[in-house]
Amino acid sequence: MKAIVQNSYGSPDVLELKEIAPPVLRDDDVLLRVVAASLNAGDLFSMRGSPWLARFAVGFPRPRDYVLGWDAAGVVEAVGKSVTRFKPGESVYCACQGTLAEVARARESTVAMKPASLDFEKAAAVPTACLTALKGLRDVGKVRPGQKVLINGASGGVGTFAVQIGRTLGAEVTGVCSARNVEMVRALGADHVVDYTEEDFTSGGQQYDLILDNAGNRSFSDLRRALTPRGMILPNSGYGGMGYVLRALALAPFLRQQASMFAAQPSGADLDALTELIDAGKVGPVVDRTYPLHEARQAFRYLEEEHARGKVVLSVAQGRGVGP
Ligand SMILES: NC(=O)c1ccc[n+]([C@@H]2O[C@H](COP(=O)([O-])OP(=O)(O)OC[C@H]3O[C@@H](n4cnc5c(N)ncnc54)[C@H](OP(=O)(O)O)[C@@H]3O)[C@@H](O)[C@H]2O)c1
Repeated sequence: MKAIVQNSYGSPDVLELKEIAPPVLRDDDVLLRVVAASLNAGDLFSMRGSPWLARFAVGFPRPRDYVLGWDAAGVVEAVGKSVTRFKPGESVYCACQGTLAEVARARESTVAMKPASLDFEKAAAVPTACLTALKGLRDVGKVRPGQKVLINGASGGVGTFAVQIGRTLGAEVTGVCSARNVEMVRALGADHVVDYTEEDFTSGGQQYDLILDNAGNRSFSDLRRALTPRGMILPNSGYGGMGYVLRALALAPFLRQQASMFAAQPSGADLDALTELIDAGKVGPVVDRTYPLHEARQAFRYLEEEHARGKVVLSVAQGRGVGP
């Protein structure tokens, strides 16, 4: 199968389109013929081997034909002996490792039926970013109706979903983004939008019950100013670096305000819940650009700019005649 692999760490130049063996099917796996995949900030960390921790998962001292990608939508090609929920030919989506390839392998427990209302490219944009927004706001932040929630970085992969998930949880949502994205974030359902090039959300006196920080560009003390006395900060940004996250966590035990780090987990059950919201028209992906698989380097370069509007998608089946 064709796949985007890396054999060293660095810039998008380390990415190669290569013919490699497809993954081996295990008993509780679903093999997926990938139609589309999407990129996440985590793919940049894998590609660069930075933060260093990433190298333990990707390959130490260097990766060996490591297949990038964590999100896929496609068609079930084969299922393992103990798989009961899926059969060949069904259209599914999931978060699993190694999706920038013609075939990917996922645990049955991480797979869900593709939302009927989305084509494969849009469905591939959903899993990791939307699961992150769901976990952060619903499970960790425990957002309740009427609470004031601020999403810093509301126009990117996670943020566009977080605005919508916040609204489905009944929160009053404020999104922070640059001027060119204000209208889009408002259209996603944000009650208020702050253009960070014009206004500083930490100094206007407004306070929030929860801040989901996807941008990592503000100090912990700045964010605390914009937080209610018992509010919570979710420092979600790998871009801000571990120092920022650790400072937030180290201070948390001494304050009534809370900071809590979290990692999204692949989950078929949570994707089922998202499928319902998507097919009901309450949540939907924003796809900024779609690249063919062989242009993965260009796609990663665009992602590196950290100003994608929603998601960057790779079309894996382009030209293979697999329709929505
Ligand atoms: N916890 C987890 O399990 C998990 C999972 C996935 C991702 N993440 C983390 O989530 C973070 C965001 O990921 P993403 O996919 O949403 O990234 P992204 O698509 O690159 O989005 C970045 C966002 O940051 C905004 N931004 C840039 N400069 C800003 C500023 N000065 N003030 C406010 N916003 C600013 C951009 O908006 P404009 O273009 O409008 O400037 C854009 O909306 C990453 O750090 C990633 O590591 C965590």
